[in-house]
Amino acid sequence: MTGIEHVEIAAGRWQLRPPVTSEAADALAMLVDPLTAQWYPADVTDQDSAAAWCLRGADWSTGTHATFSVLDATSGRLVGNVSLWGVDLAALTASVGYRTAPWARGQGVAPAAVDAVTGWAFGALGLERVELPHRVANPASCRVAQKCGYLLEGVLRQEYRDADGVRWDCHLHARLAADPPVSIDPRAGAA
Ligand SMILES: CC(C)(COP(=O)(O)OP(=O)(O)OC[C@H]1O[C@@H](n2cnc3c(N)ncnc32)[C@H](O)[C@@H]1OP(=O)(O)O)[C@@H](O)C(=O)NCCC(=O)NCCS
Repeated sequence: MTGIEHVEIAAGRWQLRPPVTSEAADALAMLVDPLTAQWYPADVTDQDSAAAWCLRGADWSTGTHATFSVLDATSGRLVGNVSLWGVDLAALTASVGYRTAPWARGQGVAPAAVDAVTGWAFGALGLERVELPHRVANPASCRVAQKCGYLLEGVLRQEYRDADGVRWDCHLHARLAADPPVSIDPRAGAA
């Protein structure tokens, strides 16, 4: 089993690095936020489970994921989380997921973070394809995919089953390493 080495990525106004337990309080606030919980149910209910979630995110030793906290590069405060998951270093594929803290939404955090991690996945990990699945009912997530150049490849009918047993149609978007670069406005969200 080959792990993935920790890295930090600078993305203009934002900084990406593996999660740390000292940000558990902000991670908890982000994860129990109703919008986050609706689209990313994480089974995190208190400071201890949030700290455990941070530790799992920071453990890249299996080589199957690289999970980043997204920080405001000036204040150092947690503003989001992006995860390259389902990494297959033989097939050179992965998927990407993301969430932005409620106090940082609408500032381009998720597009900047997804774009930065995608570039690193293609450049440093040598991946050839990254998929971005999201429920069709989540248009904000679809917009992030579009802004990051993840082309819509189709609808996965009833693909996602939630905790209540309800099945949801999902969009499958993907980017290829060979796709033309996209331009994420580095000033997006600047005050
Ligand atoms: C989806 C999410 C990550 C977006 O993060 P963000 O950092 O606020 O991203 P942005 O600031 O670029 O906003 C996203 C885009 O979606 C648009 N958007 C936001 N809410 C929308 C809605 N309800 N319908 C359509 N578009 C919407 C924004 O206008 C923006 O597009 P624009 O730049 O063209 O105006 C954030 O809303 C979130 O954390 N949601 C809960 C978790 C989640 O859904 N994760 C994805 C699971 S697949």
